[in-house]
Amino acid sequence: MDYPLDMSVKPEVTGFFDPLTHTISYIVKDPSSNACAIIDSVMDIDYAAGRITYEHADQLIAFVQDNNLKLEWLIETHVHADHLSAAPYIQDKLGGKIGVGEHIVTVQNVFGKIFNEGTEFQRDGSQFDALFQEGDTYEIGTMKVFAMHTPGHTPACMVHVVGDAAFVGDTLFMPDGGSARADFPGGDAGVLYDSIQKVLALPDEMRLFMCHDYGPNGRDIAWETTVGEEKKHNIHVGTGKTKEDFVKFRTERDATLAMPNLIIPSLQVNMRAGEIPTDDEGNPMLKVPVNGL
Ligand SMILES: [Fe+2]
Repeated sequence: MDYPLDMSVKPEVTGFFDPLTHTISYIVKDPSSNACAIIDSVMDIDYAAGRITYEHADQLIAFVQDNNLKLEWLIETHVHADHLSAAPYIQDKLGGKIGVGEHIVTVQNVFGKIFNEGTEFQRDGSQFDALFQEGDTYEIGTMKVFAMHTPGHTPACMVHVVGDAAFVGDTLFMPDGGSARADFPGGDAGVLYDSIQKVLALPDEMRLFMCHDYGPNGRDIAWETTVGEEKKHNIHVGTGKTKEDFVKFRTERDATLAMPNLIIPSLQVNMRAGEIPTDDEGNPMLKVPVNGL
């Protein structure tokens, strides 16, 4: 696949760290216009209390408004299992189109069954404004973005590349964090390894922006690295690590991991593009499938 690489374009990237879910949301601005995109927004939930609030999303909205930016896109790198998307809340206030990978339909089919959703839950991705295929391009102002399909962590994962910046979602972590788990329904460690190789085939100077960081070994939270750094130093896939090593390590590690705290509300909301499901009377309501995951 020949991607339309242009390392001379340098988008202005601002990261917003959410300490509760360790997610980084990004505002990506075109240096030649006031156009921007938001990647992987977060809606706050106190799951024990069933309470949803918008402090994190309001920070993103304030940044866009304070800088007189025009929001063109709200991108989800994948269906997150550890935080809820705030895309519809932000879209209501700022406009923009919500986009995700076309394999969202696989995720909707799998979790539509697990959550016993009725026929009113469409499994065709129609909750989103755009479904990206491998190699699809779109614009943020004067900048061209291309989407690379990078399954393995989940079937719908995509890496979005604009100029010299790539938003890797959970395809990679920082070099000392390695990689994300590959054991959710539809995940596959071997497929994830191959997807990571696609990202590492980008130019060494490509800036990479993570969706998560947990500050391993007590280091400060960080979210930006480069392809060159990942190739040299990534503890799971860097120099000398074979696909066999990776699959064995990833499979053994994943078997020890507990489910993310927010997986149950996250999937129900995120497979609907960030909309909260409702009961028969239209009240917002979440389900818990007992022994279903
Ligand atoms: Fe994820």
